[in-house]
Amino acid sequence: MNFQSIGEFYQRLLVLLPFAANLLPEERARRFSYDDPKLWPYFYPQCGGSTQSPIALSALKAIPIGLAPLQFGLYEEPFDELLNMRNNGHTVEFSVPTTVFGERPYLTGGLLRDFYEAMAVHFHWGSALRKGSEHAINGRRYDLEMHIVHRNTKYASDEEARNQTDGFAVLAVLFKVVRHNYYYQPGLHEIFSSLLHLGDFNRTYTPPAFLTLGSLLGNLNRDNFYAYKGSLTTPPCSPVVSWHVFSEVLPISDLDLPKFWQLRDRRGRPLLNNFRPLQSSEARQVFLSQRPIADYVWT
Ligand SMILES: *[C@@H]1O[C@H](CO)[C@@H](O)[C@H](O)[C@H]1NC(C)=O
Ligand SMILES: *[C@@H]1O[C@H](CO)[C@@H](O)[C@H](O)[C@H]1NC(C)=O
Ligand SMILES: [Zn+2]
Repeated sequence: MNFQSIGEFYQRLLVLLPFAANLLPEERARRFSYDDPKLWPYFYPQCGGSTQSPIALSALKAIPIGLAPLQFGLYEEPFDELLNMRNNGHTVEFSVPTTVFGERPYLTGGLLRDFYEAMAVHFHWGSALRKGSEHAINGRRYDLEMHIVHRNTKYASDEEARNQTDGFAVLAVLFKVVRHNYYYQPGLHEIFSSLLHLGDFNRTYTPPAFLTLGSLLGNLNRDNFYAYKGSLTTPPCSPVVSWHVFSEVLPISDLDLPKFWQLRDRRGRPLLNNFRPLQSSEARQVFLSQRPIADYVWT
């Protein structure tokens, strides 16, 4: 963004300062806004770092490499309780419950050396006028992006994991709007249907179905993904995330996508365009892991 003048810049900064000054750090992190992500680094220095997310991904520029396949532990086991979805003013999210086996689903493989426990799921979207995925693939932004946030089981809390370069692993799934979605995705259907109950800030809703985490991946090909080291895409932007972004893009029906646009933020305004702009990927290795078809014979 180009500020017309230094004066305008300070004016904007001053509007935000009273907010920032009186709040505890956790509360401040909840109060960031997508109106001006370029201002985030003034309140959260890590947002101005050099290994930020999201980035533009490109099959031509990525390093083709056979990373270890991702392994999805307990992803197909039902949760032992219903989901509690919430409009937190920035997105719709839910905490991942434990499965009937007592543990949460977990992830390893890819860039990961440890086990990462699934903690929470949330979404980023645009508006009727703008596509709102966070990552772009081969020059295209898509309509919606789902993040499944996993925390390294070595760390006992999010606060501790945010201090560690191997703290988090996020799985990202991009969605493209289609006119008729013939392809029934049961888990996602429950989530998208729930949005109608989550319109206002802080509303919660419990879909009446026992889901699995794997059902949120539909029939996605889990073998092909981009992987790189980056950051949380919301303040405090800690550079502690191993990103795994699936190459395949899932469909979302043109009846479901607008349900996201009907949500409202804490000030009662439409909750739209909650995606962070692309960050520089200079000096970073981005891998594209693709599994040869022949492997399937042996697995
Ligand atoms: C995170 O790091 C900061 C700065 O080094 C330290 O003050 C804080 O106690 C750490 N927090 C946790 C939970 O490890
Ligand atoms: C959100 O709702 C919960 C439970 O209804 C309430 O305890 C909490 O204070 C609310 N939070 C905000 C920020 O309004
Ligand atoms: Zn996210």
